[in-house]
Amino acid sequence: MNFDLTEEHIAVRDAARDFAQNVCKPGVIERDNKQEFPAEIIKQLGELGFMGMMVDPKYGGGGMDTLSYAIAMEEISKVDASVSVCMSVNNSLVCWGLEKFGSEEQKQKYLVPLATGEKIGAFCLSEPEAGSDATSQRTTAVDMGDHYILNGTKNWITNGSSASVYLVIAQTNPELGHKGINAFIVERGMEGFVVGAKEDKMGIRGSDTHTLLFNDVKVPKENRIGEDGFGFTFAMKTLSGGRIGIASQALGIAAGAFELATAYSKERKAFGKEISKHQAIAFKLADMATEIEAARLLVYKSARDKDMGRNFDQSSAMAKLYASKVAMEQTVEAVQIHGGYGFVKEYHVERLMRDAKITQIYEGTSEVQKIVISRNVLRD
Ligand code: CAA
Ligand code: FAD
Repeated sequence: MNFDLTEEHIAVRDAARDFAQNVCKPGVIERDNKQEFPAEIIKQLGELGFMGMMVDPKYGGGGMDTLSYAIAMEEISKVDASVSVCMSVNNSLVCWGLEKFGSEEQKQKYLVPLATGEKIGAFCLSEPEAGSDATSQRTTAVDMGDHYILNGTKNWITNGSSASVYLVIAQTNPELGHKGINAFIVERGMEGFVVGAKEDKMGIRGSDTHTLLFNDVKVPKENRIGEDGFGFTFAMKTLSGGRIGIASQALGIAAGAFELATAYSKERKAFGKEISKHQAIAFKLADMATEIEAARLLVYKSARDKDMGRNFDQSSAMAKLYASKVAMEQTVEAVQIHGGYGFVKEYHVERLMRDAKITQIYEGTSEVQKIVISRNVLRD
């Protein structure tokens, strides 16, 4: 097994690291305070080719592998998880879902501007009463022959107000259960589609999370993704890839906090020496480094599974479950190593700690990842 990164992966890592440090870092505290969506940064990420990294170049993408994407996600997330969640949803839920399952017409019309970063996408599965229990879709899509009529409410939608292309999951045939669910491409501006309230959040405060309302929205039949009834399978398959993105985000948050804590421990003196020379602190750093490396290996393994065409449902769930746990635990340790300074915004680690929590909730809570893993393990 080769654990070395290729020259291409190193180039992606360096470009992402440079972008994170020079473009994302200035203003990150202010954007968090003001809950300001990083519109200009996302535009530049698109120009760099990071909004459609894995998409075939014939559709305007970067043609890179999933490992490159995971590496870039880690670097951006070290600095600004509000930027990286936008990047993750666009790359692995919206672009990948459309490229893998969309029609040629849908790819030309929607994937190309999403992959080039000209437009931003959103993925709309969750509802007020259908989060983990995702088959309980209340949003309806009534088949009217040449079009569908959508009614319902989606909540917690990332890129809710910045997107212009929305992949919306809705129930067409309730009597068929999850086999009656469809996925649709809804455009911003379609009559009856309303972007509702923005959430005031603990973390990823620069990300625009919104409720979306659908009031008799007429969606042409050609905007349905796949065959009639394919919507739930579409959501599940797409989420498996998305979970690699969020696992990489969690890894980046943990690694960013570790880098800050290590640097701080070498500067801060207490009892006549750098705090890194107190074994209690040095051991914290040893544990952090070990946990982060273990998370990285799970993330890379899952990315590799996907790139090799192997099933990655289980490995992506494992990567997300573990990396998000590491992010939460190790950001708390990073704050501890900073002492009182860790509790104030200027030192960044308190924000990373707040941002870490969401990685245990979205794209399937940790409990949901355990459902996925246990079902796979028991089936095997
Ligand atoms: N690939 C293909 N089919 C799949 C599948 C997969 N990965 N996972 C499930 N299915 C199929 C099952 O085989 C089953 O079909 P059959 O009945 O034909 O066998 C069908 O889907 C229903 O599956 P389950 O019986 O397993 O369904 P369940 O009700 O027990 O729920 C679950 C399973 C894993 C909990 C699922 O509901 C789930 O993943 N919930 C979490 C939802 C989620 O992750 N939401 C994230 C929203 S997006 C987001 O959060 C973005 C962001 O923040 C940035
Ligand atoms: P619930 O499903 O009500 O869960 C509550 C608790 O019960 C959790 O701890 C859960 O793990 C546990 N639980 C539920 N069922 C079980 C079970 N069977 N076994 C054990 N424990 C269980 N959704 C989208 O569709 N698109 C987005 O872009 C998006 N972005 C988001 C951004 C943010 C900031 C947030 C907060 C959420 C976002 N979500 C998005 C929604 C997210 O995916 C859901 O919040 C998540 O799936 C959990 O659903 P819920 O909030 O309804 O919690």
